[in-house]
Amino acid sequence: MTQETRPDSANLGFGIDIGGSGVKGGVVDLSTGQLVGDRIKILTPQPSTPAAVAETVAQIVAEAGWAGPVGLTLPSVVTGGIARTAANIDPTWIGTDARALFSAALGGREVTVLNDADAAGIAEDRFGAARNVRGVVVLLTFGTGIGSAVLNNGVLLPNTEFGHMEVDGKEAEHRAASKVKEDRDWSYKRWSEEVSRVLSRFEALLWPDLFVVGGGISRKGDKWIPLLTNVTPVVAAELRNTAGIAGAAYAAETGITP
Ligand code: BGC
Repeated sequence: MTQETRPDSANLGFGIDIGGSGVKGGVVDLSTGQLVGDRIKILTPQPSTPAAVAETVAQIVAEAGWAGPVGLTLPSVVTGGIARTAANIDPTWIGTDARALFSAALGGREVTVLNDADAAGIAEDRFGAARNVRGVVVLLTFGTGIGSAVLNNGVLLPNTEFGHMEVDGKEAEHRAASKVKEDRDWSYKRWSEEVSRVLSRFEALLWPDLFVVGGGISRKGDKWIPLLTNVTPVVAAELRNTAGIAGAAYAAETGITP
């Protein structure tokens, strides 16, 4: 990037997306949601205890040379900075004051912690696939689990956790996470039947204007989104693997704190 096109440093933020397999961070241009420079990725320590993850977070921030506030995601319900659940991360996160932990690991600086799908939803709503959409947007991330974010005219309803809703006797994420497709070696056609079933339940309860589908499998959206049988339009997320980072950085900057 040349000096001339470099964004104004006042408009930069830093986000870290903590997942079951990787911890990814980077500097974000808060006017576009794009990364400025490299995405830094370190494998999630195993076991993924709070202390071990906090150390990884500190390593990423040090490697980036970032001194300002940091936004972080967890694959957990987060209220008041405290992790309340731990579906795909070490169970010792439950009850951990994540905000205090990360702040201490980062020399006492200001941090914001929110659910990973909520962060991705914020980013897609501000900068990505839902940026020009008014009304109710439901973002779903398909990965090891299913994450959900609900926004009404850009305002987030945090911690919706629709991946754990029971659909025809089974948790939605046990039916239709992309991990289920992998584990069972399903075709896109077979898997899309389960996704349609889950989305039908969500749309019967929420009547959204748009579904945005994210997670790694959204990169191949053309193989399965056209197969879905739902009435609500479904589009692939646009920010792909940087949505969590961008949303976390944006939340830290704007003070969205669930
Ligand atoms: C967790 C959510 C998370 C989602 C995606 C689910 O199992 O309960 O909090 O957003 O996985 O990581």
